[in-house]
Amino acid sequence: MNKKIEELNKLKRGALLGGGQDKIDIQHEKGKLTARERIELLVDEGSFEEIDMFVKHRSKDFGLDKQQFLGDGVITGFAKINGRPIALFSQDFTVFGGSLSESHAEKIVKIMDLALKLGIPIVGLNDSGGARIQEGVVSLGGYAEIFLKNTLASGVVPQISAILGPCAGGAVYSPAITDFIFMVKHSSHMFVTGPNVVKTVTHEEVSFEDLGGAETHASKSGVAHFAMDNEIEIFEGIRKLLSFIPQNYKDMAPELNFDLKKDLTIEQLNDLVPENPNRPYDMKEIIRLLVDNEDFFEIQKNFAENIIVGFGRIGGLSVGIVANQPAVLAGVLDINASVKGARFVRFCDAFNIPLLVMEDVPGFLPGTEQEWNGIIKQGAKLLFAFCEATVPKVTVITRKAYGGAYDVMNSKHIRGDFNFAWPSAEIAVMGPKGAVEIIFKKEISESENPEEKTAQKLSEYIQKFANPYSAAERGYIDDIITPSETKIKLINAFQLLKTKVDSNPPKKHCNIPL
Ligand code: HXC
Repeated sequence: MNKKIEELNKLKRGALLGGGQDKIDIQHEKGKLTARERIELLVDEGSFEEIDMFVKHRSKDFGLDKQQFLGDGVITGFAKINGRPIALFSQDFTVFGGSLSESHAEKIVKIMDLALKLGIPIVGLNDSGGARIQEGVVSLGGYAEIFLKNTLASGVVPQISAILGPCAGGAVYSPAITDFIFMVKHSSHMFVTGPNVVKTVTHEEVSFEDLGGAETHASKSGVAHFAMDNEIEIFEGIRKLLSFIPQNYKDMAPELNFDLKKDLTIEQLNDLVPENPNRPYDMKEIIRLLVDNEDFFEIQKNFAENIIVGFGRIGGLSVGIVANQPAVLAGVLDINASVKGARFVRFCDAFNIPLLVMEDVPGFLPGTEQEWNGIIKQGAKLLFAFCEATVPKVTVITRKAYGGAYDVMNSKHIRGDFNFAWPSAEIAVMGPKGAVEIIFKKEISESENPEEKTAQKLSEYIQKFANPYSAAERGYIDDIITPSETKIKLINAFQLLKTKVDSNPPKKHCNIPL
């Protein structure tokens, strides 16, 4: 028996080395960690249980039968993060560049299947040269099976991808289907075709980093949700993200203890919205003051900055926050903001995370660029997402709620549960100036003193509509609140809404405007 145990240990020692020490050294020289080092840094100490360490590829072509590495370029198993179980895979670039073979794909699909049965999140650490070229169509089939599994798991368990090396060709579509993508600056890239093919096809000269680096995808394309400076930050980010979300669609996010007896009045909130309605202010400051311990975990912070999305806790309960940002483009809703907001709202709704909407929105962005790129259908995504969401939904209007954007941003009419307004709120079809110029056009132009007439009409309009009272008269606003008491109101609302039950009509699936 001892001999057999020794033999087993020898095999395991070999497997732990992946493609060998020389390849590990190259990985380190590139500033990258190995697949096993990454797992160690990501999960709770000593919690990783590996499976399928002995899997090998079955390819005999191009001399591959003579090159065998236990595990076949991907480490799979189960571990704990913040004490809660997850399934994970970590691609090992030291083995055939982490390329995906038939067996490699089978290992990933196997842990995804188990994760679905167990109802636990799936975390993928990607570092791969793509389909294993020597295996041909078999590896493409392997990818397709992963894509299918990602799709079936969508909305059942959270799926998180970290891109820690190359990710090219169709391989990008597995992370793209998952809920959140983390990228590391300078050593991770995602593109459908690399710079060389781009040059041949479009004659554009572009670097790897500009085409598909972390900052590009976190700020220009919106493909990545996080661009981190190094791998350690990525693992901290994943741990933090998981702390706000539940294990699966039937579960609730962990609720933390919160001292309800302490004074929850926040006087600073009374002074944050400027008197002049056209002056910007930073909505993040308001969010920071409202969430427990000023701890706001922002998502896609460098993309479509006119809308803010992220997680925080209100009275110990995890909530998804969607907020207009008056400090960027006056908080207007454009295509990117709508798509960013919609995807986040749908994630929260899929996973029972209540929504808090902080609203100061002048409307949708006009112009040919927006119209020709489909602001109608793209804006409809956000509208659709809020309409279909059945989780607790609370809105606070801090200032502007104009036009269609008023309807979209979780208004009462689309099942907002509690809709509050600050006294500074202006709930109207449009801003006073635009409105007066349209409805009193004739009167103003025929007046002997158009300026005076405009001022008089503006004052009348502001009196009538640039406030929250006419909306509150009809019950479209449940309460007009002093800003300093917002935290208390929110805690009470979300606590009450814990027992909320709502549903949508039975259907195969909805048809969100894509
Ligand atoms: C087999 C691969 C491989 C692959 C890399 N290797 N990619 N082996 N299949 N796809 C091997 C290399 O031969 C090398 O082996 C080792 O991994 C490390 O690769 P290097 O090239 O030395 O590393 P580096 O210079 O860092 O370059 C990494 C790279 C490059 C940018 C990923 O290797 C590369 O361009 N690979 C091909 C990428 C690609 O075109 N893949 C197919 C995409 S199509 P040795 O033994 O020398 O160490 C695709 C379709 C998916 O994936 C479709 C899904 C629907």
